[in-house]
Amino acid sequence: MHGAALQPVQLPSDGGPPVSFFLEFLRSPLTVGAVRPSGRALAELATAAVPATGSPVVVELGPGTGAFTAPIQQRLAGSGRHLAVEINPRFAGRLAALHATVEVAVADATALREVLAQRGLDRADVVVSGLPWAAFDEELQRNVLSEVVAVIQPTGVFTTFAYVHARWAPPARRLHEALRSRFEEVVVSRTVWTNLPPALVYFCRRPITVVGPQGAMDLSTAAGHR
Ligand SMILES: C[S@@+](CC[C@H](N)C(=O)[O-])C[C@H]1O[C@@H](n2cnc3c(N)ncnc32)[C@H](O)[C@@H]1O
Repeated sequence: MHGAALQPVQLPSDGGPPVSFFLEFLRSPLTVGAVRPSGRALAELATAAVPATGSPVVVELGPGTGAFTAPIQQRLAGSGRHLAVEINPRFAGRLAALHATVEVAVADATALREVLAQRGLDRADVVVSGLPWAAFDEELQRNVLSEVVAVIQPTGVFTTFAYVHARWAPPARRLHEALRSRFEEVVVSRTVWTNLPPALVYFCRRPITVVGPQGAMDLSTAAGHR
């Protein structure tokens, strides 16, 4: 766990200067993982699992400049809670300034449980990921997925996207296999050809956990399953 990422970060009240997605990519290509934000059609699909009724807790991982943030906010229409976890303080500052009702945390997704606990939460109904999985090594993929599985409700949904051109490359295959080992159901969407580059969404339901002495844990951290 990256405890240092949980030190409170003072976000500028005016959001700071405008942030260019492309410049942030040039600064840190492996963290940003794309040269442009997701398009509207991909954002609508990736956020379709957010309930438009009730008071759900929605967690957004890697919001960047907010491509998924706006449709999540529209679906919530003022109800529930929307927590956005972004490692890049410049993206986080702009996001907080643009979306006053989104709880923005400057933190690493590997610290998700702590981020939720700091806000009096331990579970999420929906986790929407915009993280650049293909740029993550195996350990980072595993650590983030463990956090997601640890917080998601048994009836919850985890969605994440992948670029079609990289779908059969080792990191994307590893992600798909990891998803299938952590969730009973993994449904792959149609391809969103209008996105640049074209992308698809994984809809993951029914997290696979075992109950140990310290409560529910996911299979990868349970003894005998490493
Ligand atoms: C491919 S961009 C996606 C941005 C946005 N969701 C979209 O679809 O346009 C990936 C985002 O994940 C953030 N990110 C990368 N690694 C992260 C981590 N370990 N924890 C939290 N955010 C992370 C990056 O800073 C960036 O904002």
